[in-house]
Amino acid sequence: MKNRIIFSLLIITCFFACKPSLEKGSADQKLQAKADSLLSQLTLEEKIAMIHARTKFSTGAVPRLGIPSLRMSDGPCGVRMEINLDNFDPIGWGNDDGIYLPALTAVASTWNPELAEETGTILGQETRIRGKHIQLAPGINIHRSPLNGRNWEYMSEDPFLISKLVVPLIQGLQSNGVAACVKHFALNNQETNRCTVNVKADERALREIYLPGFEAAVKEGGALAVMGSYNKFRGQYATYNKHLVQDILKGEWGFKGTVISDWDAAHNTLEAGNDGLDIEMGTERPYDKYFMAKPMFDAVKQGLVSEKSIDDKVRRILYVMLKLNAINEAPFDTTGMRAKLAIPKRCMATRKVAEEAIVLLKNSNNILPLDISKMKSLAVIGANAIAKHSFGGGSTTIEARYEITPLEGLQKKLGNKVKINYTPGYPQTLKSDWQNYDNTLDTISPKMIAEAVEVAKKSDYVIIFGGLNHNFKLEAEGVDRKNMKLPYGQDLLISEVVKANPKTIVVLLCGSPVELGGWFHSVPGLLQNSFLGMEAGNALAEVIFGDVNPSGKLPYTFPKKLADSPDHALGEYPGKDGIIHYNEGLYVGYRYYDSKKVEPMFPFGYGLSYTQFKYSDLTVPKEIIGSSDSVVVHFNIKNTGQYDGKEVAQLYIHEQKCTFERPLKELKGFAKVSLKAGETKTVKITLNKRAFQFYNPAKKAWVAEPGIFDLLVGSSSRDIRLKGETILK
Ligand code: BGC
Repeated sequence: MKNRIIFSLLIITCFFACKPSLEKGSADQKLQAKADSLLSQLTLEEKIAMIHARTKFSTGAVPRLGIPSLRMSDGPCGVRMEINLDNFDPIGWGNDDGIYLPALTAVASTWNPELAEETGTILGQETRIRGKHIQLAPGINIHRSPLNGRNWEYMSEDPFLISKLVVPLIQGLQSNGVAACVKHFALNNQETNRCTVNVKADERALREIYLPGFEAAVKEGGALAVMGSYNKFRGQYATYNKHLVQDILKGEWGFKGTVISDWDAAHNTLEAGNDGLDIEMGTERPYDKYFMAKPMFDAVKQGLVSEKSIDDKVRRILYVMLKLNAINEAPFDTTGMRAKLAIPKRCMATRKVAEEAIVLLKNSNNILPLDISKMKSLAVIGANAIAKHSFGGGSTTIEARYEITPLEGLQKKLGNKVKINYTPGYPQTLKSDWQNYDNTLDTISPKMIAEAVEVAKKSDYVIIFGGLNHNFKLEAEGVDRKNMKLPYGQDLLISEVVKANPKTIVVLLCGSPVELGGWFHSVPGLLQNSFLGMEAGNALAEVIFGDVNPSGKLPYTFPKKLADSPDHALGEYPGKDGIIHYNEGLYVGYRYYDSKKVEPMFPFGYGLSYTQFKYSDLTVPKEIIGSSDSVVVHFNIKNTGQYDGKEVAQLYIHEQKCTFERPLKELKGFAKVSLKAGETKTVKITLNKRAFQFYNPAKKAWVAEPGIFDLLVGSSSRDIRLKGETILK
């Protein structure tokens, strides 16, 4: 009897435990069956129409079966303005100005998964309102070189941080009935020669550094689309790279969605047909000349590509359409569209992200936050104080409903209580055509510097807004920066200004590290920000004047100089004879700086607050059994300062001895904790099995090697406050 009860209980438990996956499985199976039924009614011509572009951002439709053309748009800072069908010029309807979100580097600087989800939700809502099925975002390529012109569009140098943020972002986005298209798969880590470069990376670096973000996006986030990148990987174009697409993405990870090429990334009909590319998108040729258009039709007829592989592509496209309820959908109607875009609630939500993205790098003698009551005048210097960054950078370009500049944010905050003296200080001009090279990059204007010095002298405090912008050859698509220096003579400007008025705060707006000149030692306050979206100016003013306590942390290492960065130190950037060897292997970002003992300017995970946090009482399990699903680590954090604030506690692991090489530190957990002044909280971080594992290429599997692990809890990767040890058995 007792056994019968236990047995029944087991069945009941198993039923409830298994129910969600059973339901999911069967719902999915129903979709697959519907996809198959539609597929069986299609002619080869119709199938071919569905697998390539028929305008710049859409595929062919099959109206007789209610199959729409898939409509796509770029992101991720918002939904790109409507462009012409056959070229990239804005169509100019005047109703597509929408939300302008902080860049993904900013989202990553928040270290806040809830804000990543909010970002995705906002983006998904606007994508839906704009009538698109697929949002061509997020981009999550690893920051390998500080020079990559698209770093600001991506998140981080660390695969764990990316994974933890990309999953909620995609879930938020897709909760609106639109598909995320995570990009650029994979190893597209520089813009120089991006369309031709052949990347050679070993299997461990691939699995442990370059792929985990994509793996999480697909397996946990449920991304419905993936964009193949421009570059080659081990000799074959990534967009239909057999190892990446067939073996790993569709094979090991079980991806059921669709693989879309980057624009003009396909180069060969047979490989595209046989090695896993599902949709060919592009720019240049007439649509029927696409590799996956008439040439593909002919290849099938000649038996060079099987109709079965075409069916697999079409089934995936239909699956995505069914997931989005797009079959037999009503025609898209733009009536009233503008009123639904950029509603105040959504705009205000972008500000929350911006506020938490701001990283305080230096605050000598607590110069920040500034106190309005203690100043009569404020010098605001720098072209970035009045620059708008929404329109620029390449495919991310959007028509923002509005963009509050730093100067506007300060004017609003200070009203007539403080006199603002503004001068640009350096000659930045923003090009509306991002491919137009800005020839003034190296220009120093002694006249503008002299004016800035005068303005600084007559003001109580100075704030310089500098950094980069989205002009071609700075932070924009298609080309990398040529060096890590601040352009337009900003180093000289800052040095001269701080000599004239030591109460100077520098605010950098850029999504990648820049080399900080000698002025760094004399400037008491420094804030680093990526591009912060439509509410940038307001968010900055809130932090500068203390309404918001900064809580951002760097999602990448800030090297002292370019030569310190691993790819440059090894001479493996931008590659030779068309090949780039990722010889640094696993040693990307802080993994390199820590293990090779190179002192960075600011380490990964660094960021100050107006308050202080004390860490204590770390509890870690003494031993872990290799098969345990999760291990919980506890510790306390107390806010010991005067301000309420948020701290990002980071958990790194290190295996003391291992037969395989392992970096000195690897981020495996973090928590953003909000603490009132004086408050203490217990923080709980869960480590799963994968946290202790590495990829063993010989076994083709993730494995852990028994041994002693250090568990390091810190406020940054180089500010470890608590240490524990656990034995993995
Ligand atoms: C970019 C992609 C973008 C596509 C469409 C390409 O140049 O690399 O990120 O989605 O253009 O605009």
